[in-house]
Amino acid sequence: MKHFSVIILAAGLGTRMKSCLPKVVHNVGCKSMINRVVDAVKILKPDNIVVVLGYKSEFIEKLLVGEKIKFAYQKEQLGSADAVKQAQKIFESYFGDILVINGDVPLIKSSSISKLINLKNKTNYPAAVLASKTDEPFGYGRIVRNGLFLEKIIEEKDASPVEKQIKEVNSGIYCFSKDIWKILPKIKPNKAKKEYYITDVVEILNRLGEKVCVSLNEDFCEVMGINNKMELANAERILNSRKVHELLNKGVMFLDINNVYISDDAKIGEDTKIYPGVFVDRNVSIGKNCTVKGSSYIINSEIEDNCVISYSYINGVKLSKNVKIGPFAHLRPETILKENVKVGNFSEIKKSVVSRNSKVNHLSYIGDSNIGANVNIGAGTITCNYDGAKKHQTVIGSNSFIGSNVNFVAPVRIGKNVLIGAGSTITKNVKSGLVAIERSSQITKKRVNRSE
Ligand code: UD1
Ligand code: CA
Repeated sequence: MKHFSVIILAAGLGTRMKSCLPKVVHNVGCKSMINRVVDAVKILKPDNIVVVLGYKSEFIEKLLVGEKIKFAYQKEQLGSADAVKQAQKIFESYFGDILVINGDVPLIKSSSISKLINLKNKTNYPAAVLASKTDEPFGYGRIVRNGLFLEKIIEEKDASPVEKQIKEVNSGIYCFSKDIWKILPKIKPNKAKKEYYITDVVEILNRLGEKVCVSLNEDFCEVMGINNKMELANAERILNSRKVHELLNKGVMFLDINNVYISDDAKIGEDTKIYPGVFVDRNVSIGKNCTVKGSSYIINSEIEDNCVISYSYINGVKLSKNVKIGPFAHLRPETILKENVKVGNFSEIKKSVVSRNSKVNHLSYIGDSNIGANVNIGAGTITCNYDGAKKHQTVIGSNSFIGSNVNFVAPVRIGKNVLIGAGSTITKNVKSGLVAIERSSQITKKRVNRSE
C-alpha cells in the first residue's frame, strides 16, 4: 500500500446524541466509538493518525492514552471541512494520501478502508469516497453519480425530493491526494447550516475537471454513522449479533440468541452453554463445556473448561477446570480458584487464592487470603482483613475444617489439618493439627414466666 495518513474527525458537538459526553466516547460493544475507529485504521499501518478534537476533548484524549496519535484542535465547530483544515499544519511537508474518516462509524472494517485506499491508488484520481446502499438513507449525504464517477454529495437538508430518493449514501470516509489542502480554501459555508462541508470537495473537483471515484461497500451496517441513542442501540444490536453468530459457528450454544450480550473480543469454547441474561464484557475467555446461567456478568476473567457459573458477578478472576460458582456469588479482582473449587450463594471473594477441592459454600467473605486444598469454609465465615487503614492476610492450610460463622482477624495463619469451632473469633495463629475454639460457654437455666 502507498504511503497514507489518517485524519479522524471527532470535534463535533454531537448534539443529536443528547449527552453530556462527546459522541465518540460512547461505547458500542463495550468499546468506545473512537477506539473502534482508531483500531480499524491502525491495522493498515498509516504514517500518521491525527484526531481532530474540539468539544470536551479531554474525555477523548483520555481514551487514547498510549496510542501513537497526534491531536489537532478545532476551536469552533464550523463543519467537517473546517475540522480537516485544523490538521493541515501536521502535513505541511507530507506527500502521501490523506484518509479522512468520521469518528462516529464504529462498525467499519479495516478491509473496507483498505479497498477504498487501493481504489484511489489504482485510479490515481484526486479523491475516492466510500459509499453504501440502504433503504433508509434519511440523514445521510446522497451520492449523485455521473456514471461510474461521483458528481456531488448532497446533504439531506439541501437535497431535492428526487435526490432524497437516492439510496446510495456517503459513509463519511474519503481518501484524498495531498491536493486536498488546495481545495479546502475553495469550500464555501453551506447555505442551510452555515458550516463548511468536506463533502463539497467532490463538486469542486468536478468543476476543476477532475474525477472522483466511489468504492461501494456491500455491507451498509459497517458504514452506519451513529448520531443518536437510537442509532447507538442499533449498532450495539448488530455488533452483538455478529459476535453471537461467530460463536455459534464455533460450537457455542445459546438458549436465546436475542437475550445475551457478548463483547466482540470474548473467546468461548465448544459446547459451552450460555443461558439467557448473560453479559460477557471485555477481556474474557471461557473454556469448553462450561455452563453460564442467568444474569451473570463476567469481565476481565479467564475461565477454564467444565466450569458452571450461575447468577454471579465475576470481575478479574482466574478459574481452573470444574469450578462451580453461585448462584449469587461475587468474585472480585485477583481471585484465583483452582480445580474443583465451589463458591456458593452470597459468598464474596477478593484477592485470594483458593486451592483444589476447597469450598466456600454459603454467605462468606474471603479477602486477601490464601486457602489450601480440601478446605471447608463454614457458612458465614468472614476474614476481617481491613483494620481501617491497611489490608491484612489470612492463610489457611490444606485439609482444615472451618466451622460456621467464624471470624478470622487478619493477619492470621492457620496451619494444615486444623479444626476451628463454629462461632469462633480467631485472633491468634493456630499450628497444624490443632483444634481452636473461641466462644463463651452456654448458660442454660429455667425460664421465668411473667404471667406466673
Ligand atoms: C456526515 C456527512 C454525510 C455522511 C455522514 C455519514 C458532512 C457534511 N456530511 O454527516 O454526507 O453521509 O456523515 O455518517 O460531512 N465534526 C467535526 N467538526 C465539526 C463538525 C463535525 O469534527 O465542526 C466531526 C464530527 O465529530 C463527526 C464527523 O465530523 O465525527 C461528522 O459530523 P456529523 O455531524 O456526524 O455529520 P453527519 O451529519 O452525520
Ligand atoms: Ca454522523
